[in-house]
Amino acid sequence: MARASGKVILCGEHAVVYGCPAIAIGIDRGVQARAQRSAQPELRFGDVVVHDPDTLRAYHALLERLNAPCTATQVALEMPHGVGLGASAAVAVAIARAVSELEDSAPASERDARLLEAANAWETVFHQNPSGVDTACALAGGVIRFRRSQGFERLPLGTGFELAIAVAGPPMPTRQMVESVARIRERARERFQRDLDAITALVDNAALCLGAGDLAGLGQLLDYNHMLLSSWLVSTSEIEDAIRLARAQGALGAKLTGAGGGGCVIALPGEAGASAILEAWASAGYRCFSTHVPASP
Ligand code: MEV
Repeated sequence: MARASGKVILCGEHAVVYGCPAIAIGIDRGVQARAQRSAQPELRFGDVVVHDPDTLRAYHALLERLNAPCTATQVALEMPHGVGLGASAAVAVAIARAVSELEDSAPASERDARLLEAANAWETVFHQNPSGVDTACALAGGVIRFRRSQGFERLPLGTGFELAIAVAGPPMPTRQMVESVARIRERARERFQRDLDAITALVDNAALCLGAGDLAGLGQLLDYNHMLLSSWLVSTSEIEDAIRLARAQGALGAKLTGAGGGGCVIALPGEAGASAILEAWASAGYRCFSTHVPASP
């Protein structure tokens, strides 16, 4: 049985499409997949055979990259789907892992590159121009800094922490949000470039804060990132409401995560802890949970 994690983007979403760095965190919820050779390719979610043409096209593109056209795969989702937590990338990576376990004896580094290529072929069917951050995080788990031109590196964490996560409305398709940001870029290229420079600097500073265990500093950077994302019109009134509630419960910082237009909000709890934020969100009707991010060397 192969596994891959869902993710939240801590900072740098959208900018990462234009080559800026982003930091992503694998969450402790994900996807499992089991593969076996078969006469015909087949994909099941649980016991349900997939007939959706886009999903089948993505599956065939993935199998083709792994040179395994005749494979039957069964996928089990252990995370919310369609809310911007990277379920699609986690499905792709879990399937690629399960398929490659059938025969791949390549060294780990080569195998990871093949898995990412196959998973990105799946993602391209849905998102056209994915940066690759979601699949990199699904593959690596933990906390990574990702850059399109460089791939991912693991980040050391000076301290562990909790992240509170709320679903603030159904998200728009990622592709649509990425296209909408591209239109904003076309209208004001110079200003957009200044925003990208600011995001690059804040992501680098966020990596330093993570290393030093400076959660207060990290929280301020998350707020700043959210402000810049809002200026690209990817926030919504529900996202703003969830952020306001988190800040009222002492969050050190809060922002949308992923493509926006709905989807999830993350909040870095302050002294009152994640439970105060989760209670406030739950009373306002938001689905929510927290994930623990452990310290690492
Ligand atoms: C989606 O999880 C993240 C975006 O930056 C798109 C991408 O990186 O491909 C919005």
